Amino acid sequence: MKQYINRDKIYVEDLGKYANQVVSLYGWLYNKRGKGKLAFLLLRDGTGIVQCVMSKGDVGEEIFNSAAEITQESAIKIIGKVNADERAPGGFEIHVQNFELVSKSQEYPITPKEHGTTFLMDHRHLWLRSKKQNAILRIRHTIIKAIRDFFDGEGFTLIDAPIFTPAACEGTSTLFETDYFEDKAYLTQSGQLYMEAGAMAFGKVYCFGPTFRAEKSKTRRHLTEFWMVEPEVAFMDLDGDMELAENFVSYIARCVLEKNRRELQTIERDISKLESIKAPFPRLHYDEAAEILKKENTEFIYGDDFGALDETVISSQFDRPVMVHRYPGAVKAFYMKEDPEDKSRALGFDMLAPEGYGEVIGGGQREDDLDVLLAKIKEHDLPQEAFNWYLDLRRYGSVPHAGFGLGVERTVAWLCGLHHVRETIPFARLMHRLTP
Ligand code: 4AD
Ligand code: MG
Repeated sequence: MKQYINRDKIYVEDLGKYANQVVSLYGWLYNKRGKGKLAFLLLRDGTGIVQCVMSKGDVGEEIFNSAAEITQESAIKIIGKVNADERAPGGFEIHVQNFELVSKSQEYPITPKEHGTTFLMDHRHLWLRSKKQNAILRIRHTIIKAIRDFFDGEGFTLIDAPIFTPAACEGTSTLFETDYFEDKAYLTQSGQLYMEAGAMAFGKVYCFGPTFRAEKSKTRRHLTEFWMVEPEVAFMDLDGDMELAENFVSYIARCVLEKNRRELQTIERDISKLESIKAPFPRLHYDEAAEILKKENTEFIYGDDFGALDETVISSQFDRPVMVHRYPGAVKAFYMKEDPEDKSRALGFDMLAPEGYGEVIGGGQREDDLDVLLAKIKEHDLPQEAFNWYLDLRRYGSVPHAGFGLGVERTVAWLCGLHHVRETIPFARLMHRLTP
């Protein structure tokens, strides 16, 4: 294959800077049509798609005919003049002067016709090239950048949590176990416990990485590998934690609205839904949320955790996320602090997204009393030896502290208005999917 050093390469998204100039574009053939002595080639380069108009008179018979042969997804180089055209998506089209085939594509499996989800997921490595998937993953990129910018801007220090861990953080039923030399290790379910150590060392910290849960349920909200950002702050209570969470999520929504207008349009997202994501968010005591479920006649049993349907019913009462706090301690993790006003309650909260997207954040204040925490570890039947280091944080200068975890994929699904989390991550890992 010819070497393309392409120092002359221009990207489709930058065409605005080159009006009336001759440029070189490198990409793939998205689609084409012809009309007599004119051919219309849609070139896709990852940053956008542009229509390239080729006329037989301009390029000569040989080049014109060779263009007629190219197949969908063939790699191509086009040299042409950038013409402003209001009717063109993106505002420009290319008047072709020269055309080169870089490499011809075999018959491409993903055609413009409708394909089933299994087929598309099996071809995820190619499906990523389509317009809608491109838009979703660009929005994911904005969300990830917004996450980092927010915490960096608030003076948090990034502290990476390990992936191999000796114990469960979020219950023993969803642990992925691995052989670790002669021993066992588990893939991390959450970096939280390590962030608590970090908060005592740095004041305010966050980790951001992949987390793993052996979710045996097939739902539209669960992946076995997902990305979570987890801030943790020393000297913070539940109210401060909820305030941090609502400012954080409002910031993410604002960034997507500012940077991804074009992508939101491509996926036909109703922008008004994103515009209403503004702090403050409503806060409901668990009992108030249970009251809503009673009024709506759901099958919810008081004292239980909320199921997906319950979350949908509660959140559908609001146009922005709602934060439900003080769940019964019995349905929450061992590390949650007891509410001193009602010891049966945990000082934790879940943020439920509107439009049926359910929980996007779980968090709260942590148990800071050594004896209470020891009792909780016993109650939850967890091996105390594995938590000795964690208990040290209560032995050496324990302070009130709080934090939360936001799941990136559920956030992407919600902000993009997608039915299922499988399209929110480049290569989804689900109970029945490990390829590609
Ligand atoms: O509510 P979770 O389990 O909370 C924790 O892990 C805490 N340790 C976080 C903390 O306080 N530092 O999970 C937090 C979020 C959920 O709200 C959800 O958005 C996401 O992680 N999440 C999942 N996303 C996709 N697939 C799964 N299987 C998920 N499980 C949780
Ligand atoms: Mg949770």
